[in-house]
Amino acid sequence: MVSERATRTTPFAAMDVLERANRMDDAIHLEVGEPDFETPNAVTEAAVAALRAGETGYTSSKGKPELRAAISAYYDRQYGVDVDPARIVVTSGSSPALLLAFSVLVDPGDEVVLTDPHYACYPNFVRQTGGRISTVPLSAADGFCPRVGEFERTVSGDTEALLLNSPANPTGAVLDGATLRELVELADAADATVVSDEVYHGLTYEAEDHTALEYTDDAFVVDGFSKRFAMTGWRLGWLVVPEEYVGHVNRIAQNTLICAPNFVQSGGIAALESDDDFFGGVRDTYRERRDFLVDEVEDWGMSLDYTPGGAYYLLVDVSDLPGDVLEQRSRASRTSSGKAFDAADFLLEEAGVATTPGPDFGANAADCLRLSYATSAEKLVEASERVQRALETVELSTAD
Ligand SMILES: Cc1ncc(COP(=O)(O)O)c(C=O)c1O
Repeated sequence: MVSERATRTTPFAAMDVLERANRMDDAIHLEVGEPDFETPNAVTEAAVAALRAGETGYTSSKGKPELRAAISAYYDRQYGVDVDPARIVVTSGSSPALLLAFSVLVDPGDEVVLTDPHYACYPNFVRQTGGRISTVPLSAADGFCPRVGEFERTVSGDTEALLLNSPANPTGAVLDGATLRELVELADAADATVVSDEVYHGLTYEAEDHTALEYTDDAFVVDGFSKRFAMTGWRLGWLVVPEEYVGHVNRIAQNTLICAPNFVQSGGIAALESDDDFFGGVRDTYRERRDFLVDEVEDWGMSLDYTPGGAYYLLVDVSDLPGDVLEQRSRASRTSSGKAFDAADFLLEEAGVATTPGPDFGANAADCLRLSYATSAEKLVEASERVQRALETVELSTAD
């Protein structure tokens, strides 16, 4: 019999849209959260050299000591924080790091607090451990930044973990240092543990990144190479673990993951050592794309009441689009209904522009679409023209 846990695991809508878009000839992809930059050359060269040098066996389950030392040096350089390499566990991407964190923290029935909206996969990580999800609402009026008061209303003695994410997927919102500190203190007072997903650090356009480790040694910090080094397919990430949990995390990692690929870890060392060259240009490019798209969506009849400060996403509200027309004109056969799905179908089928329907990210994104600007400026210009042309036909049919 299929386990209840498996049947309760929901599909990842962005991936479903991606599959449909890939079957079309020239769809423009605004649905996926994957950098369109190439991995820095120095990283590829280091991994190839490692392969040639025969670095193909298992490594320690916590990762190569040189990589863990490089990650520790990165915390020192980037945030002025001292992290003992013994507390760092290297993983195959940040996704297994999330799974490890929840595996050691959560028993069936334990409460995990998430924001709403949140990264679509978070509830499924919690479900794998049998945890119970409570959510803290975020609003566009606040730029989707969490209010500490909302957390105070939700976090209780029953809360085991608080999952934070900045810069955030799907909103691009960035948490300021003072708020992060207050949330860390609030978790501490409730005897709950912060799990801070910092995978979009480095892709912050105005403010500074702050790690939860600036305020506590008791947080789990999830991070990785996928986003800021354009290394999604390399599958390399890490988990910083509070000291008392290190042995427990390592036992689960030894048994279930064994280790991240050996030569890939050598690529990771090169990435951390060469990041300064890569970062500046990439960040400027994303910022320009964001500014372009923020201006354009106003002309699409969608609303965006905030300017996202990081990652490469906008969460736009489609409530003002004529739902009945979109519903009639969206031809996809699917089980989910609602304006966001109709709008995403319409844009894919009639404009050839793929977007992700908001409901995947929580009830507070029900009438939204997530747009990713991890695609070239030329494609963004074309996407905007196509969307405007397609939406003009909707206005015409409304006028009829
Ligand atoms: C917020 C967030 N966390 C974690 C991940 C997983 O990234 P990876 O497993 O590639 O490191 C993603 C991927 O999109 C994400 O958006």
